[in-house]
Amino acid sequence: MLPTQRQIYDHPDSSGAITLHTAEDFEGMHAAGRLAAECLDMITEHVRPGVSTGELDRRIQDFVEDNGAVSATIGYRGYQHASCISINEVVCHGIPSDEEQLVDKDILNIDVTVIVDGWHGDTSRMYIVGGSSFPTREKLVRVTYEALWHGINTVRPGATLGDVGAAIQKHGEKAGFSIVRQFVGHGLGEQFHMAPNIFHFGKPGKGVELVPGMLFTIEPMLNVGTYRVEIDESDGWTARTRDRKSSAQFEHSVGVTADGFEIFTTSPKGFEQPPYL
Ligand code: MF3
Ligand code: CO
Ligand code: CO
Repeated sequence: MLPTQRQIYDHPDSSGAITLHTAEDFEGMHAAGRLAAECLDMITEHVRPGVSTGELDRRIQDFVEDNGAVSATIGYRGYQHASCISINEVVCHGIPSDEEQLVDKDILNIDVTVIVDGWHGDTSRMYIVGGSSFPTREKLVRVTYEALWHGINTVRPGATLGDVGAAIQKHGEKAGFSIVRQFVGHGLGEQFHMAPNIFHFGKPGKGVELVPGMLFTIEPMLNVGTYRVEIDESDGWTARTRDRKSSAQFEHSVGVTADGFEIFTTSPKGFEQPPYL
């Protein structure tokens, strides 16, 4: 059962106190998650060669506002856009720009977080410009999506965050890719980033034990080459692979239920992974 009142859950392996949420809270998360997913559905047809990431971001901001919601990223630690758009070797936190145009065979992640009635919906997907790319990039995108789901499928009361991370790491490394360590998933709900941290690598049985009512993202980043990342000094945000080989990421917002999980950010159009035919 989900808690009938909000509760605090302390665990020695958590970065802070974890809030356990009620069924009513889960309804709020479904509304926020749905709008975030609709936003990624909406942008799909606009991902074409020659389009600028600045234009994509404006469409996203308009969509969020037209739906009476608020972008969680605008004003977040000085960030000024409604999305992060991360192309090829950019791991995450790519800043939309009118000077940056999509090129055929680019792979890109679009990450949006919206606030609906105080609840946060945070999700990202990969897109492939022109519908197909180089074999290694296509494989990276597919394996990253599968890795996200290997992580999600471990989520149930009694499992641990080490189980989640280990499932993701095992699947990614088996395919020859590396797992980014510098960025993690996170608790969310009435705040954007909360305890606990969700590592995308780890050891089965270790870490925070999952209990009903937890809300968090799982958002693995997998790289073709090194897992090491560096942040552009020019903007303080853009995270690139050190070796400039490609990176991919998918993100869902999930909740732990009495017997498993609920996904809040499922694509209403079924656009869960490219090529979105
Ligand atoms: N949406 C990102 C996440 O998954 C965070 C982006 S913060 C921003 O947690 F400021 F860069 F937008
Ligand atoms: Co997130
Ligand atoms: Co996100």
